Amino acid sequence: MPKPWKIRQRAANRRGERVKILISGGRIQRRIQAIAKQIRRDFPDEPLHLVSVLKGGVFFLTDLARSIAGEVSFDFIAVSSYGKATRSSGQVRLTRDLDSSIEGKTVILVEDILDTGMTLQYLLKLFQQRKPKHLRVAVLLDKPERRVAPVRADYVGFSIPNEFVVGYGLDYSERYRNLPYVGVLSLDSKLAKKAAEK
Ligand code: IMP
Ligand code: MG
Repeated sequence: MPKPWKIRQRAANRRGERVKILISGGRIQRRIQAIAKQIRRDFPDEPLHLVSVLKGGVFFLTDLARSIAGEVSFDFIAVSSYGKATRSSGQVRLTRDLDSSIEGKTVILVEDILDTGMTLQYLLKLFQQRKPKHLRVAVLLDKPERRVAPVRADYVGFSIPNEFVVGYGLDYSERYRNLPYVGVLSLDSKLAKKAAEK
């Protein structure tokens, strides 16, 4: 069985939607190995507790968790942010809380993408109140141009331009998450107008 990221899976495009590869599966995997080593270097003897934001951060968490040596546990949280459109409403709401307490733990918050930063700002505030021993942020993708909230990630996979991307967990209306690579989604002009109105 070839490794999932070696399968050059084509996007199951709907009419009027196109996905152009931006970051290949192989590059994603290599970068994750490097981030895993860096995290372990920063916390050589600590059990690490990874917390991922559903659903976009799930593949990043599972690949990262398997690449970090030593004791690792993980948990999931869910927030609502984007709805179905390609633009954020700017509103963040907790829809699923963690299973276990993070008090006294070395927590790495694992996110798919840092865009406006509203989601991360909300989560950092919530997590700080729960008194972790350390709190760090790992994001696979960063779109620095889009930042509204004054937040930053400690570990960044790739900085990308201001384009709407899908794949490796990231969706457009819940689709394309399963692509092993990250690609730029383009919509034909009629669809783009509709998405912008949402
Ligand atoms: P923020 O709160 O604006 O930083 O947005 C964070 C969330 O918006 C991410 O966790 C994604 O779910 C979603 N998001 C932001 N940019 C994109 C994108 O280009 N494609 C898909 N989802 C995105
Ligand atoms: Mg997300």
